[in-house]
Amino acid sequence: MENRNVSLNLNAALVVILIMTARLIDGIAQNQHESNSQLDPDPEFIGTINNVTYPAGREAILACSVRNLGKNKVGWLRASDQTVLALQGRVVTHNARISVMHQDMHTWKLKISKLRESDRGCYMCQINTSPMKKQVGCIDVQVPPDIINEESSADLAVQEGEDATLVCKATGNPQPRVIWRREDGEMILIRKPGSRELMRVEAYNGSSLKLLRLERRQMGAYLCIASNDVPPAVSKRVSLSVQFAPMVRAPSQLLGTPLGSDVQLECQVEASPSPVSYWLKGARTSSGFASISTASLETGSPGPEMLLDGPKYGITEKRDGYRGIMLLVVRSFSPSDVGTYHCVSTNSLGRAEGTLRLYEIKLHPGASASNDDQLNFISGPEEARNAVACRHPSCANCAWLSLLLLLRLRLWLRPLAWHA
Ligand SMILES: *[C@@H]1O[C@H](CO)[C@@H](O)[C@H](O)[C@H]1NC(C)=O
Ligand SMILES: *[C@@H]1O[C@H](CO)[C@@H](O)[C@H](O)[C@H]1NC(C)=O
Repeated sequence: MENRNVSLNLNAALVVILIMTARLIDGIAQNQHESNSQLDPDPEFIGTINNVTYPAGREAILACSVRNLGKNKVGWLRASDQTVLALQGRVVTHNARISVMHQDMHTWKLKISKLRESDRGCYMCQINTSPMKKQVGCIDVQVPPDIINEESSADLAVQEGEDATLVCKATGNPQPRVIWRREDGEMILIRKPGSRELMRVEAYNGSSLKLLRLERRQMGAYLCIASNDVPPAVSKRVSLSVQFAPMVRAPSQLLGTPLGSDVQLECQVEASPSPVSYWLKGARTSSGFASISTASLETGSPGPEMLLDGPKYGITEKRDGYRGIMLLVVRSFSPSDVGTYHCVSTNSLGRAEGTLRLYEIKLHPGASASNDDQLNFISGPEEARNAVACRHPSCANCAWLSLLLLLRLRLWLRPLAWHA
């Protein structure tokens, strides 16, 4: 409106004076030169404002270049709500992180330091011409990934055969990528719905890892890793326990040993949660070796004896995850050590035991052989037996041969893949 008046006034100097007087009365002192600038070209932007992307915490600068500004002013506004942030070289908003810089006559820079996510958006560079001219530049604030603990899986325990879903919710800008890996570097085993097969993958893409009909070998610590190219990537560890009742296996169920030697009994155990394990020695009965459950009931003989680590018995247990090995060393084997031994393993889901028989290997050829399988076991055919059976009173060679045979048998019975 005023401009139109001004242009009319170009034709009449008297009116100019009147208008200028009116302006002075209105106190709009800055406009008093407008009549002069009519001869100048209109202000205009030089180029466009570059959009910028910065990580949170850094500073962002938007540059607005104007030529022929004349007596006009450049202002910066937040585009979303039209809040005026700065006018010329002066910040008018109460935000200590915002500053403006005027450089090389033409460039007006808006600087936002210690960028926050809330600073993301577009900013308007305005020239107060009439009609006003504006240009917009946008700031994208990158945010490193973060994992929302409350919405992500905690450690969990699931019974074997059931399903489990590991969830990892991550925020960040750009939206982070989430992958799952096993902490131990093993492959992740995934069962496709409706399939019996387990697929092996090094990493699983996606925030939600579904594990259907869990098997014990899927037990372990899983890591979800969220990354979006704004460092640092973050990870969360979720430990998955697959629970099942103990399973016990005795690789060698029959062990012969000469009197006076030490003999080691071994049981392999799988259990989760970790079992309580112990050894029992079954009572010997007239009909052979009673099982521990019937020994005391049927024969009235003493029940099974729990074996304790000490001078006579060496008891150790090695565990690796849900697998373990129970070892019992019976030292200085004597006739009273002949009998059945039970390795017992229990956890909250059940109990299992393995049974081993320990018998004496007779080293002297003439000695009474009460146990047939023991003779076959050691000597086999008559020739071999003669070859093995030693006629020297000391019988040192024979003892060695017997031990070697025993060792071979134990190696034979030992499963190959246990330690795999
Ligand atoms: C900046 O981003 C805005 C909004 O995304 C877009 O409209 C504008 O064209 C972009 N400017 C440049 C110079 O790329
Ligand atoms: C997972 O994502 C990565 C990178 O985005 C890609 O290279 C890979 O092929 C994806 N794997 C699967 C199984 O989708």
